[in-house]
Amino acid sequence: MPQDRRVSQDTLDEILSRHPREKGSLIAILQETQEEFGFLGKDKLKRIAGALKVSEAMVFGVATFYAQFHLTPRGRHIVRVCLGTACHVRGGEKILEALSEKLGIEAGATTEDMMFTLERVACLGACGLSPTMMVDGKTYGRLNRKKVSDILDGVGSAEPEAAAGALAAEPPVDAGTVTATGQPPDGAARIV
Ligand code: FES
Repeated sequence: MPQDRRVSQDTLDEILSRHPREKGSLIAILQETQEEFGFLGKDKLKRIAGALKVSEAMVFGVATFYAQFHLTPRGRHIVRVCLGTACHVRGGEKILEALSEKLGIEAGATTEDMMFTLERVACLGACGLSPTMMVDGKTYGRLNRKKVSDILDGVGSAEPEAAAGALAAEPPVDAGTVTATGQPPDGAARIV
């Protein structure tokens, strides 16, 4: 078995060892696994299902239901553009357009070099500064095209290497295997 795969398996075993092997541990295990690996790959979801003795369909269902979980690799930098009411009124769509042009991707996608993932959000809680966006947890306001471009250039130039290739070491989940029904698993409320 390749070394990096061994390490990855050991790390997951360590996460599993911290929790009781029962269904109630699933969300916490998924959260810790994602925190560790950046996304929830198919192999890991299968392994978690086996460890908790629950069906793979149930684990896939939970992982695909909650917006906090990501089943495909994400970029090193997460760019969230706000399209809530205040930002929309003040040109949020133009900001999204500027970001899409600059990064060469649509909202919801990740750049080929795995540096940036672009997402839309409903409100960043800084409506007074609209239009806004957030990059890696930092909020930027009163944006215009030039400012957006400068911010992304700043983020990109702070990178020593395009090191995110490591995140793609595991195949992403094949959407065809996902069994989400649109209903909350076990009756849980949807978090968005
Ligand atoms: S609507 Fe954009 S920050 Fe609130």
